Amino acid sequence: MRVIGLMSGTSVDGIDVATAELDLNDDVVELIPLGYVEHRYPERLRESVHAALPPGRSTGEQLCQLDTRLGQVFAEAAQRGVQEVAGGQADLIASLGQTIYHWVEGGQCLGTLQLGQPAWIAEATGLPVVSDLRARDVAAGGHGAPLASTLDAWWLRDLAIRDRAIDSGRPAAALNIGGIANVTVVHADSSPVAPTVAPTVAPTVAYDTGPGNALLDAATLLVTDGARDHDTDGVLARQGTVRADLLERLLSDPYYAATAPKSTGKEHFNAEYLRQQLDGLPSVDSGDLLRTLVELTASTVARDIRAHGVGTVLASGGGMHNPVLTEALATRLGDVALRRSDEHGLPTAAKEAYLAALLGWLTWHGIPGNLPSATGAHQPRVLGSITPGSAGAPPAVAVATRPTRLRVLSPETPDT
Ligand SMILES: Nc1ncnc2c1ncn2[C@@H]1O[C@H](COP(=O)(O)OP(=O)(O)O)[C@@H](O)[C@H]1O
Ligand SMILES: [Mg+2]
Repeated sequence: MRVIGLMSGTSVDGIDVATAELDLNDDVVELIPLGYVEHRYPERLRESVHAALPPGRSTGEQLCQLDTRLGQVFAEAAQRGVQEVAGGQADLIASLGQTIYHWVEGGQCLGTLQLGQPAWIAEATGLPVVSDLRARDVAAGGHGAPLASTLDAWWLRDLAIRDRAIDSGRPAAALNIGGIANVTVVHADSSPVAPTVAPTVAPTVAYDTGPGNALLDAATLLVTDGARDHDTDGVLARQGTVRADLLERLLSDPYYAATAPKSTGKEHFNAEYLRQQLDGLPSVDSGDLLRTLVELTASTVARDIRAHGVGTVLASGGGMHNPVLTEALATRLGDVALRRSDEHGLPTAAKEAYLAALLGWLTWHGIPGNLPSATGAHQPRVLGSITPGSAGAPPAVAVATRPTRLRVLSPETPDT
């Protein structure tokens, strides 16, 4: 089945559009990445999304307009996926939408809002759309994030069995550095599905470690007076040194010490937060500010990965394009091998869009897409809502076996 996955993260840099051929072979999901494109947001829409994100406030009218415009632009993105990558032929669209608010209080996720009305996508493409993939996990007591835990657990488990480069004697981890950074730690024999059977080893855990690029982007906007929205290639950070007083203050945020499951977003780590952290400190110059925030991301991610005794990390997300960040991360990780998800077939920039495709495919086949040990949900759940395509209500598609692993195959594989 050919599925287009759509994703725009908290960085609001654009919609990642990935096309995957997905199939189930016994208990192994086979994913063939056919390619991806990035669909930029029109500048005005991007500004409106930024204005609506915390600490911004929005009216019902503004949210309605955003939901509509985002749905229309996601529809354009999906059409590009169908035409430019899928060769004009796809079966299903899966959309993670644009998170506008992720409501966490007292360590519990109480609600989460992703906009990008799927009816526009179905109308433009004629294809069924699976959307709103987080809400069901939240309703089942979870954080609705990181949903990457499902892909990661199945993928790393398969790699640990098949690939000697992944040390199967130590846990492996997946890391995504988007606006927020999240990790998934997979123990070699972790039960990859619902913990209905008592696991014999530690279950898979996944959570947001804290800011990935969110504070770096906020700081870049601040020090360039809005001229630049991210520190391209870490040029500013490279000129600075870590300010110990600021780093110490940042690290004292109780989020880092809180136990998983946990999730966070721009509700917490935003420009206003950054201003408060700088308040009362001797003035911090631009380079030092960026370099210190690089260190914050690198040290919080690395500390957690090391604490889990991880041997290999597969990393993805826009933060992997920032060389100052990857160097700091490698230093902090010590003897933990840092590898890019590309090395195993999933491009760093598109891994989360492939995740969207996987989640849509799972829902289409009635297979739960959440991993309760990671998100904190009480039970596995089939995620999302389905908007029918031009063919009308979809038939139920049953599978004989529940997946326990995921294998990324090369697009050159025959019979695609
Ligand atoms: N060349 C680069 N140099 C520095 N940072 C980069 C570069 N490319 C991407 N990034 C960072 O990655 C972010 C986008 O990452 P992404 O994985 O798309 O995050 P999200 O899922 O939040 O949208 C940008 O906002 C920026 O901070
Ligand atoms: Mg992005």
